[in-house]
Amino acid sequence: MRLRAALPLVGALACEPSSKVDTGSPTVDTGPTHPCLEAGADCTLAETARARGVHAGAAVPNGVDEDRQQAVLTHFDSVTAENAMKWGAICPTHDACDFERADAFVDWAHSAGLRIRGHALVWGQSPGHGHPGDLDELTAEADDPETVMASLITEHIQATVARYAGRVESWDVINEPLSPGGSGMDESVFFEAMGSEYINHALEAAHAADPDARLFINEYVVSDYGGEKAQNFVALLEELLAQGAPLHGAGIQAHLYVEVPDPDVLGALIHDIAALGLDVELTEIDMARTALLEQTNAGMELFDAQAEAYGVLAEACLAEPRCTGLTTWGIDDSHSWLDSTAPYDALAPNAPLLLDEHLEPKPAYLAVRELLAVGAQ
Ligand code: G3I
Repeated sequence: MRLRAALPLVGALACEPSSKVDTGSPTVDTGPTHPCLEAGADCTLAETARARGVHAGAAVPNGVDEDRQQAVLTHFDSVTAENAMKWGAICPTHDACDFERADAFVDWAHSAGLRIRGHALVWGQSPGHGHPGDLDELTAEADDPETVMASLITEHIQATVARYAGRVESWDVINEPLSPGGSGMDESVFFEAMGSEYINHALEAAHAADPDARLFINEYVVSDYGGEKAQNFVALLEELLAQGAPLHGAGIQAHLYVEVPDPDVLGALIHDIAALGLDVELTEIDMARTALLEQTNAGMELFDAQAEAYGVLAEACLAEPRCTGLTTWGIDDSHSWLDSTAPYDALAPNAPLLLDEHLEPKPAYLAVRELLAVGAQ
């Protein structure tokens, strides 16, 4: 059965607005007696998350309408630009950069008091969107590709991170360093030119441009959160820290395509990263219908299966004090990258988010809010 929750508007809530969490470290701001931290409390997700000291975020697509902007302000306390701040979105080619969309996003989010996760400075996928489309050509033609790439990275990061210093709290400095189809290093244009040194180089450049920014590496695991790719991710983080890299956190994207992760396995991955002294965030949560086929084929309603899956993710994060945020990859079910990307478009609409296409909270929203309020019962 599809549930709808009628939540009161922010202004009508009894819950006191609480101060923003402005570092990556979780802080419970008003203690266990906060009115939002009670079973069935009539608070928004944002208010409950603030009371718990964990960020509840949404990725915001380009050109989002006013109703959706308002929904973000009501339900979330943190935002990521789905595309506008990627290197290739700003600079489709390396020398043709336009910060207009990224500026507009940061101006809006910052003036609204939202925490901003910057995404993403260096990403080997999606030439022309993830990174400038001419990087391949530039480095292939260079006598010394390593030096050329190092200075392209420095120039981009210096310009971008310094521009938003004091407004963007954390950056996905490196997105998806590991191979999309495997578990070793992704042999991207960056890796080809510089080997894995491009990661240290980018982290150093970001730290120099804004010493206060929290610097993350963001990665995804397709299904086995305890498998080789996950282990290689932890090993990479450990190695970077041993080398003294300015690294503060790791993002686990949590796009679910195949199945819902085993709670213990996901919990162990989050714990292993936190044990390195890093913050952890689930940075890009959504789920294709393909991940829930077992449940829906067995007769479970899609939205109820999603509520359970979101619950697994939220519980794993909440069990680890250094897990500082949960971000969904989109605002509401009217727009998801899954619906325009093969093979997930075949089952569109995937309807994978916490708000339905009418911006009403779904069962998954209520499940996450309840876990934030009182934990697993
Ligand atoms: O901006 C152009 C527009 O000018 C053009 O008319 C239109 C026609 O196709 O394309 C527009 O660009 C698209 C862009 O999204 C903005 O809408 C690209 O084709 C499309 O490839 C791009 O897809 C994005 C993808 O990253 C690649 O950058 C998705 O929206 C975005 O959800 C996805 O997000 C990634 C994360 O950054 C990293 N983790 C995985 C996640 C899902 O793939």
